[in-house]
Amino acid sequence: PQEGYVEDSLEKGMNYEQKKWEEEHLSAAVMKFGAKDAKQARKEKDYDYVMDEEIEFVQAVTMPGSNKSAETESQLSASDLKKMSIEETRKSLPIYKFKDDIIAAVRDHQVLIIEGETGSGKTTQIPQYLHEAGFTNDKMKIGCTQPRRVAAMSVSARVAEEMGYKLGNEVGYSIRFEDCTSERTILKYMTDGMLLREFLGEPDLASYSVMIIDEAHERTLHTDVLFGLVKDIARFRPDLKLLISSATLDAQKFSEFFDDAPIFRIPGRRFPVDIYYTKAPEADYLDAAVVSVLQIHVTQPKGDILVFLTGQEEIETANEMLLERTKKLGSKIKELMVCPIYSNLPSDLQSRIFDPTPPGARKVVLATNIAETSLTIDGIVYVLDPGFCKQKSYNARTGMESLIVTPISKASANQRAGRAGRVSAGKCFRLFTAWAYKNELEDNTVPEIQRTNLGNVVLLLKSLGINDLIHFDFMDPPPHETLVLALEQLYALGALNHKGELTKLGRRMAEFPVDPMLSKMILASEKYKCSDEILSITAMLSVNNAVFYRPKDKVVHADTARTNFFRPGGDHLTLLNVYTQWAETNYSTQWCYENYIQHRSMTRARDIRDQLEGMMERVEIEITTNAGDTVAIRKAVTAGFFYHTAKLSKGGQYKTVKHQQTVMVHPNSSLFEELPRWLVYHELVLTTKEYMRQVIEIESSWLLEVAPHYYKSKELDDSSHKKMPKQTGKAKADMHKHS
Ligand code: CDP
Ligand code: MG
Repeated sequence: PQEGYVEDSLEKGMNYEQKKWEEEHLSAAVMKFGAKDAKQARKEKDYDYVMDEEIEFVQAVTMPGSNKSAETESQLSASDLKKMSIEETRKSLPIYKFKDDIIAAVRDHQVLIIEGETGSGKTTQIPQYLHEAGFTNDKMKIGCTQPRRVAAMSVSARVAEEMGYKLGNEVGYSIRFEDCTSERTILKYMTDGMLLREFLGEPDLASYSVMIIDEAHERTLHTDVLFGLVKDIARFRPDLKLLISSATLDAQKFSEFFDDAPIFRIPGRRFPVDIYYTKAPEADYLDAAVVSVLQIHVTQPKGDILVFLTGQEEIETANEMLLERTKKLGSKIKELMVCPIYSNLPSDLQSRIFDPTPPGARKVVLATNIAETSLTIDGIVYVLDPGFCKQKSYNARTGMESLIVTPISKASANQRAGRAGRVSAGKCFRLFTAWAYKNELEDNTVPEIQRTNLGNVVLLLKSLGINDLIHFDFMDPPPHETLVLALEQLYALGALNHKGELTKLGRRMAEFPVDPMLSKMILASEKYKCSDEILSITAMLSVNNAVFYRPKDKVVHADTARTNFFRPGGDHLTLLNVYTQWAETNYSTQWCYENYIQHRSMTRARDIRDQLEGMMERVEIEITTNAGDTVAIRKAVTAGFFYHTAKLSKGGQYKTVKHQQTVMVHPNSSLFEELPRWLVYHELVLTTKEYMRQVIEIESSWLLEVAPHYYKSKELDDSSHKKMPKQTGKAKADMHKHS
């Protein structure tokens, strides 16, 4: 057999099941990845010198194009697309042919399900069509929800450009902590979470003529809750048009939920995509991804690459690795333009992914799930899919939530592959084996509502006067115990009374677009006269652990700078210290630079803080500062986060107080060196161990003060434990201090 035949991929020791499966399913026609192209490249460019490592792929299947005509259609190259005027581009979208039919269908039906291939123009075009058809007359708005903030921002920017408006005027977006709309806004893109909040101020959505729940297939928690709310509203607002738009095959399910609403299918234009798998599982998918990108770059014909990674950290690492390696290779390879995209990326850098690729160069987009369906980047011909995403997982028994890197579903994998076939025939390289695809991936992703904490949403629904949550019209109901736990937590926080009704405190908590524990902390700051400090802490906690900058070549300096900010008492006080010092320099960029602080995160924290401060007026809390009293500040934090209390146990480990779960202080914490007996943590992250991130030292007696109905003094009595944990000198000293 020739080189690359599947026989020589069946290495010794391969799982028998897998071997058998591969023998049955991978035909002899399977070709080693790029064998032909690679040979060509070797001749021309000293390939072996360029590629000192190589990932071997085998081709298994070709995902067919969606219709015959697509394959015969002239293949548009990325540069052709860029040369087209905006008007021509709009007309080239698959949806364009159906413009009149869509308008007519919206006129004829109150609720319409729209299904169409990603990139066909649903999100950017439908609101414009409906605007042209008069749905924005009489100052009525068309709303369109997006599960992700990056999508809301980038799509609205695109639509504003297409319509020739300045973003924020006629076309705008609204995401948490950022409202880019005005009195004049008629097309409003927003995150699904923001629409939920709009219900608080406008329960019948009276200012909207059309509401589009977009990317419905993503089934985010907020989108799922919106389904129930908008379905209800549609009944008493017959003039409101409702569009549920989705990329994939869930249309039937949506139709059934919305009382058999008609489905409008937009036939897509998709070219065939060849799917390749690795021969063997890859131990380090990040490294494999970087190698594969270079491999594609040197062996494959022109076309941009889209790589799916799980988050900011991975994307930044991959970015660095690629820059490093391409720099080393210098002029041996053509230019590679690396563009990262993830939700915390500042918007000016986000738009770079849409910049045209310079002639002769190749663009590689390093993206999170955002590029799976929410964003379409023209010119992608190669998709590289390691097969993972970051997912929330929730333990309904303990109430613990963690973000975990999880294998994607088959549906996701296919959606990702499809991104390679938009402008021409494409290739998708999966960094996992064909066997793993078949046997290890779930068919579909579990909707978020079934794997997340519901505290936030329950508080919001209660604020909307929806008391009976058990009978709320969910498309897929959340697990009963998750709902009960959310009610319990809100009760413990004082947001609900024993009958499950919203309290005055709960109503005030719902004013803040943050988690109930954070809003409780903010409200508690009134009592402890430290609202100024607590707002800064809340803002700093909200920027996602992106405060400290740690470049690989300056690790020592960066760590020293970080530890210099440490304050006794814990990480919240350290974050406060960073914010205060920065504010004292009049928000200096230079200061951030000198202190290894990420300036972008700080300006975002400042924005968030300003917004929160504005909201304090609505709940009538004065801004008072009490910077010297760290006990008061820590008590306010504890008043919100008493659920997250842990007590030192053996060997530097902690046990959570309510569930006796073993957890550790994160090595980055200022308390890592001197573990306190009692602490409150902000969040748990699961890496190799279950780590508590952002912790403060507390005294157990505070728990009785801030949550008397949740903690009994017996639970917190240190001496009642039969077995005393092994004490370090420091822990002993702490105990004396506390008793
Ligand atoms: O919503 P759907 O996936 O059906 O498509 P869309 O997001 O409306 O995208 C339609 C076209 O707009 C695609 O060709 C995108 O590349 C383009 N687009 C863009 O150029 N810039 C953006 N910020 C968003 C979309
Ligand atoms: Mg879309």
